[in-house]
Amino acid sequence: MSTLEHNSENAAESLSFRHLLGADDVSRNDLEAILDRAAQYHADARSGRPIPAICTGRILATLFFEPSTRTRFSFESAMLRLGGRVVSLEQGEASSVKKGESLADTGRIVSAYADLIAVRHPQAGSAAALASQALIPVINAGDGANEHPTQALTDLYTIRHDKGRLNALTVGIAGDLKYGRTVRSLVTLLGLYPDVRFVLISHPSLQMDAPPANATITDNIADVIGDLDVLYVTRVQKERLKDAVEYEAVKNAFTLTPASLEKSKKDMILMHPLPRVNEIDPAVDALPQARYFEQAARAVFVRMALLALMQEPAPVTD
Ligand code: CP
Repeated sequence: MSTLEHNSENAAESLSFRHLLGADDVSRNDLEAILDRAAQYHADARSGRPIPAICTGRILATLFFEPSTRTRFSFESAMLRLGGRVVSLEQGEASSVKKGESLADTGRIVSAYADLIAVRHPQAGSAAALASQALIPVINAGDGANEHPTQALTDLYTIRHDKGRLNALTVGIAGDLKYGRTVRSLVTLLGLYPDVRFVLISHPSLQMDAPPANATITDNIADVIGDLDVLYVTRVQKERLKDAVEYEAVKNAFTLTPASLEKSKKDMILMHPLPRVNEIDPAVDALPQARYFEQAARAVFVRMALLALMQEPAPVTD
């Protein structure tokens, strides 16, 4: 039976995790189940087929203590497209956390009001703290400089979609590799494919603390651009650097232009989790390698897949 048919709509397609707190929670089987389901939803959307409303009666709580455009809206859009509903905290400061309530208590309390939680917070470990007392599944939608596992799922979806595979690839990752949570989750998930080779490109002060063993490290993108199948660029995150002096020193480490991509492979794909600031000139957007807007658009199918596969049987309440 084709993977594009809705042959297994029930949630119990057996993901190995209950909470998604980091990319380490995801096995290769989990990953393939999520990406296959996302491909079904993507194909449905393209062909205009109705998407089964398998989250009818379910509520997603989006608790965001940090700004977001893509992650929050795509999670909320995903739940609505699956027939569910959403309760949202756009500004965590408006919650009782401001009064001193712990994240653990918040997780316990919100469990009575929703069926699934997606949380973003500036502190590393915050999603795990919230999940520690939650009675419903929790998804880490970005915890400080630690992890952003659903972004990595989205990234792998675009790599598989556009390159046709997740193995035998040379993947360049450029920008803020020290504080970049998307990068940390991406390297972990791509690590499920042992024949992926990494090229890490950054200012020396923004290098990854624990690079993968098979990584090449450089601060000169021009030296390596011709080797890459995928170039994944990230923003230097002003909000994570210690001070303005440190930011000024690294903020313009590189800006990709059409000229700087001239030596890339013709079928290289250029990705970015967005938002971008200075690192990709808008003139690059029209090049065939530029895939970051498609990458962001496809996030909704990946998050639909995740919500569908993570939902649990309806709770019995006292
Ligand atoms: N990629 C990403 O996490 O974007 P947002 O911060 O807009 O959610």
